[in-house]
Amino acid sequence: MTTLSDPSPILLPTPLGGTLVNRVQRPGHDFDPAELAGLPQLELSDRASADLEMLATGAYSPLTSFLSEADYLSVMEHMRLSDGTPWSLPITLAVGREEAGRYTGRVVLTRGGEAVGTLDVQERYEARKSLEAREVYRTEDPSHPGVAALYAGGDVYLAGPVTLFAVPRGAFPRHHRTPAEVREVIEARGWRTTVAFQTRNPIHRAHEYLHKVTLELVDGLLLHPLVGTTKGDDVPAETRVKAYEVLLEGYYPQARTLLSVYPAAMRYAGPREAILHALSRRNYGATHFIVGRDHAGVGSYYGTYDAQEIFSAYRPEELGIQILKFEHTYYCRSCGQLVSPRTCPHEGDHHLVLSGTKVRERLRAGEGLPAEFTRPEVAEVLRAAYAAQE
Ligand code: ADX
Repeated sequence: MTTLSDPSPILLPTPLGGTLVNRVQRPGHDFDPAELAGLPQLELSDRASADLEMLATGAYSPLTSFLSEADYLSVMEHMRLSDGTPWSLPITLAVGREEAGRYTGRVVLTRGGEAVGTLDVQERYEARKSLEAREVYRTEDPSHPGVAALYAGGDVYLAGPVTLFAVPRGAFPRHHRTPAEVREVIEARGWRTTVAFQTRNPIHRAHEYLHKVTLELVDGLLLHPLVGTTKGDDVPAETRVKAYEVLLEGYYPQARTLLSVYPAAMRYAGPREAILHALSRRNYGATHFIVGRDHAGVGSYYGTYDAQEIFSAYRPEELGIQILKFEHTYYCRSCGQLVSPRTCPHEGDHHLVLSGTKVRERLRAGEGLPAEFTRPEVAEVLRAAYAAQE
């Protein structure tokens, strides 16, 4: 490990593909908005709009486009783009079959009717939904939220390069940073090694344990909660971010922690999504990425450590980010601390394990959460959020 006062230059990891993609083009500055008059318009879903931002800001480097058919098929079959670059999830733009013919040449992408970017349509092709469900989600069960979203979307995918007119700083302007902006902070703080932490759940002590064990070894922590669309019963991003804010204030070293939001939607694709999460965090400048138990999983569709094992499909230098794998972590009453099967000799009845579902049930019932599971400050944020819903 290096010290923060090391005078040698800071070398951040190269983005996947070598360059950080930037397809943000400002109307009136980079092009004349009059050029957009009369073009067909396509209203984006929440997920597609988040993907547009991810593409245009370089979070999905080397992609500059929604996937072509060749890349789509290659990603499903080989977990690589057709040029061999590791890539695990199809980033696609679905439209209905009946409207697909309207979209040719340059299309204006809209949100709530407002123009937010463009797509130069190069291909239109049939989604292979059944294949996609089996390959990407490992199930065709429509109660899997990712599979449900896939089947709810249109049957035709549009492919081609995109532009974005402005980064939508949305609900979290203080914490919303592009990959280039996160890289700037990392450089300014002098972190030679940065671990990124993906999360979609309210922070609890096991998360904090993973962060702090890792901070013993790396210089900085990028807390990177996903704030795009999540399934209906997940805790809303506003509440989760508030919980992070109170926890960071009281319990984290400010100079070694950066809270920043990750705009993408959740797919719940478990192992395949873990790969995308890691590759994208490399684009944000992280050198390390945490993958714990059932990363990006839902229900019991994936084995507890499938999302760790899948990384062996790639050579470490292809990934360009080091995967830190953690076993299931929980509080042990006899050890009096957070532990895992690697560090604790006691039987299960000494352990306090609460599933996400159980936590949500307790919160809905107005019950508190034990301090060994969630710090009281976080429990209070969650309690207040659930009480406000009633
Ligand atoms: S996820 O969908 O973003 O993976 P979550 O926010 O629960 O959900 O998890 C964030 C990260 O922490 C993931 O890498 C997950 O594997 C890991 N994780 C969550 N809880 C635990 C735990 N108790 N023990 C070990 N790893 C965990």
